Amino acid sequence: MIYKRLLKPLLFNLDAEDAHDITLQLASDVNNSTFLQQLTSLLFNKKYESLEREFWGLTFPNPIGLAAGFDKNAATPLAMQSLGFGFAEIGSITAKPSKGNPKPRAFRLPDDHSLINRMGLNNKGAEAICRTVSSYNLDIPLGVNIAKTNDASIYGDDALRDYLFSYEQALAVADYITVNISCPNTGEGKTFEDPSALNDLLSALEPNRKDRKPTLVKFSVDTPREVLQTLVNICEDHEVSGYVATNTSSNRSSLKTNKARLAEIGNGGLSGNAIFEQSTQVVQWLSEILGGSKPIVGVGGINDSQSALRKLEAGADLIQLYTGLVYEGPGLISRIKKGLDHHL
Ligand SMILES: Cc1cc2nc3c(=O)[nH]c(=O)nc-3n(C[C@H](O)[C@H](O)[C@H](O)COP(=O)(O)O)c2cc1C
Repeated sequence: MIYKRLLKPLLFNLDAEDAHDITLQLASDVNNSTFLQQLTSLLFNKKYESLEREFWGLTFPNPIGLAAGFDKNAATPLAMQSLGFGFAEIGSITAKPSKGNPKPRAFRLPDDHSLINRMGLNNKGAEAICRTVSSYNLDIPLGVNIAKTNDASIYGDDALRDYLFSYEQALAVADYITVNISCPNTGEGKTFEDPSALNDLLSALEPNRKDRKPTLVKFSVDTPREVLQTLVNICEDHEVSGYVATNTSSNRSSLKTNKARLAEIGNGGLSGNAIFEQSTQVVQWLSEILGGSKPIVGVGGINDSQSALRKLEAGADLIQLYTGLVYEGPGLISRIKKGLDHHL
């Protein structure tokens, strides 16, 4: 209520990324103060035993996680824990630090309850971020999402080495690792969703290595079913531990936002309400393909307990959200938990 009446109108007056930076600063203040964590926990973090889940030997106090991209540099996991998230995924981290694309690069589509972003994997680099992660003592599982450094001159075997560097940094500190294959491209115009590129990548990372950590692969929402089947077959050959579905979309056909505004915004990945149906469809396809053999993390357009429930009913074992937080505020997590507890 306070968020929608007071904070949201102020934040929505600002550029989307500036508003995000302010939110991140507030969250990082909470992250760095035990008192503020306790206060936040008191306000937001009601525990529900009915929502506890166990996957990969990890205990999730509830199935709702923070999606990658919100906290690229791991500045807020303790704050996210006190807000009531059941797990948090930081990143994407990349081997080399990156400033990302020129600003502006994040845009709100209020008529669609959605966002478009082309951040370009801005982050402080795998080494520094994993050092930060190692300083936390968290009660919730922490995922580290890795991607290839946003630099088109890194491609071929160098791109694989780049990923491997981040993977090895993450192995030391993460509870689970998500391999983000939908962006950026390999430098030869392909993404790692190209089957042979994915096979090379997973051969380099060896998710089934001795010092293994649960390793998940994150797909784009724009993946057709046949391609998904091919990619899952490759992932299963390499013994990945689970899947995250989905990342953002480049399809804008169903938007209410007018064409002139979309043209003004330019390129970028669509997230939020507008991708809910398509991303839930991908969760359902994955569920059919896997038949329950591997956990699925469903993400895309969750903004209330109904949409969270639909994602779970489509086959997701865990869920994540990002854009819903922007539109609904931090009380969203406790509202979803309450709704799920009621339904389940
Ligand atoms: C501004 C922004 C930045 C993002 N950055 C990343 C990222 O670095 N890595 C990643 O795997 N996904 C990233 N995502 C995608 C989200 O993790 C999520 O998959 C997608 O937004 C769909 O969920 P949502 O509708 O709840 O936002 C980003 C999303 C947004 C809105």
